[in-house]
Amino acid sequence: MPAIENVDACVFDAYGTLFDVAAAASHCQDELGEQWAPMAQMWRDKQLQYTWLRSLMDEYVPFWQITQDALDYTMSTLGIDDSALRQRLLDVYFKLDAYPEVAGVMQTLKAGGQKVATLSNGSTDMLESAVTNAKLDLDAVISVDRVGIYKPDGRIYQLAVDDLGVPKERICFMSSNSWDAWAAANFGFQVVWVNRFGQQPERLPGAPREIIKDLTALPPLLGLG
Ligand code: LAC
Repeated sequence: MPAIENVDACVFDAYGTLFDVAAAASHCQDELGEQWAPMAQMWRDKQLQYTWLRSLMDEYVPFWQITQDALDYTMSTLGIDDSALRQRLLDVYFKLDAYPEVAGVMQTLKAGGQKVATLSNGSTDMLESAVTNAKLDLDAVISVDRVGIYKPDGRIYQLAVDDLGVPKERICFMSSNSWDAWAAANFGFQVVWVNRFGQQPERLPGAPREIIKDLTALPPLLGLG
């Protein structure tokens, strides 16, 4: 008996779950030296904070703008003043690397009859770029852009239900961002928390059904592969 049953669609968070958010800074290790890892962490943390703050302020701008604002804050904090490096970091971020197991897992899920999609804060242009770069064959690439607010607003999770035509309880949602996993479970998805970063469980409403370290463990949970 599979651990997770009655699922018609697998929906994935994008950044941190399918795409490696540290890859841009990692690609620029020559310029950044030992600062690359703390730089990647601060950039990511600030980027997420801006999504939540702008949602509360009702001051939406696309994720690509937020990504640049967060980078500028981070470079300024770390005392890095280098416009060529800034551009290089953004160029890599725009078509971020997928984690190595992603394409194979997607193929297994599709072969098993699942619809597969990404539901992300990312703006449509950056999502399409990363999906194309990783050669992922998805049924839908769903961005928050058309609602103009960020996760964890419930209207964002509802987009997957509406676009895929699948009831929320028959959607399996994967995120490596713990807050996103908890919020999606609270919304009513069956959630698998991909705890790539060894985070502690959140103290928030909602709870994931299963916890895995990377996506290779997902198809067996669904009785596939
Ligand atoms: C996303 C962020 C949360 O892709 O990583 O939606």
